[in-house]
Parts: sequence; C-alpha cells; structure tokens
Amino acid sequence: MLHQSLSTVLDLLVRLIIFYLPAYVANGSPVLFSKIYGSGHPIDMGIVFPDGRRLLGDGKTFEGFFTGTLTGSLVGLILTQMGLHSMSSSITLSLGAMIGDSFGSFIKRRLGFKRGEWAPLLDELPFILVALGLHQVFVCALPLEYWIVALLLTPVLHKATNIFAEYIGLRS
Ligand code: CTP
Ligand code: MG
Repeated sequence: MLHQSLSTVLDLLVRLIIFYLPAYVANGSPVLFSKIYGSGHPIDMGIVFPDGRRLLGDGKTFEGFFTGTLTGSLVGLILTQMGLHSMSSSITLSLGAMIGDSFGSFIKRRLGFKRGEWAPLLDELPFILVALGLHQVFVCALPLEYWIVALLLTPVLHKATNIFAEYIGLRS
C-alpha cells in the first residue's frame, strides 16, 4: 500500500521533471555558454530605468536568451523523439523560461538587487512561472499539480544545481 503510493508519487515527479526539463535547461545553459560568448550584448542595451538602475542589467544578454531558448528546445526535440514531450510545449517552455528569467531581473533591479546578487525566490521562480503561464495560454491548460510541484521543486533543484556549479568551479 505505502510502496504503491510512493511509486505513484515518484512516477508523477519523474513525469513532471521531464515536462519542466526544457525550461530548466533553457534557464541553466546561458551560464555555460557565457564561457564561450563572454560578456555578450545586454538585452537592455545599457538603458537605465527612471529609478536610476539598469532596466535588466549586464546578466541578461541576447546571446544568453537565444542559446537558452535553443538549448531548451533541442532537449525538447530529443524528448519529443523519445515520445516524452511535444515540440510546441518544449519551445514554449524554453522561450517562456528566458522571458521569465529576464522579468525576474527586471524586478530584482527595481528592488535594488545587484546583478548576480541572490534574491530569494526571484531567482528561482519567475522563469518557471512564466514558462508554465505561456504554456497555459498558448499550448494548453496544465493540471494544478504542474503548478504546485513547480513551486515546491524548482527552488530546491535551483539551489542544488548552483551548489554543484560552484563545486565544479563554474560559478562563484
Ligand atoms: N546569462 C546571459 N543572458 C541571459 C541569462 C543569463 O548571458 N539572458 C548569463 C550571464 O552571464 C549571467 C549568467 O548567465 O551572469 C547567470 O544567469 P543569471 O543567474 O540569471 O544572471 P545574474 O548574473 O545572476 O543576473 P541577475 O542578477 O540579473 O539575475
Ligand atoms: Mg543569478
């Protein structure tokens, strides 16, 4: 009985992580690609908001936006070929993740957080919420558990991948 409900929960978790994967990969890959493109070209083109702070900041570049969207969609393509995803969903999730990530930086700047400074929840949630939101609007509605698990799981996975990235020297 316990064993059965445990495997049902695990089953759901694995299915959801596979579903979120294009968004997670999109969000995580620019930090890798920035080793190749360097500082890149800021999306806000240096524009300063009326509050005196940058619109988005130097951490959000065109290069990162496109490599992120592309990498997430490529992972989606592989998953689609395996019968585990669909192209419309994975492109929407990847693009949504990068839009949400930029939106998160917009809010961070308005609240006075510096580029790269950790802002609890603002670093971890906007990308997945906007990804799911675009999916909800442009592809299809998602069951409530997709939203709840995303809210609970994403900060944990985000923290874990950051610790790992620091450990292997990818992030400081
Ligand atoms: N990155 C990028 N373009 C993007 C997103 C990310 O070039 N659209 C790269 C940048 O080199 C960035 C790194 O990936 O520094 C890590 O991304 P993130 O943590 O989202 O940016 P931060 O530097 O922390 O900036 P912010 O405070 O605005 O979140
Ligand atoms: Mg950051």
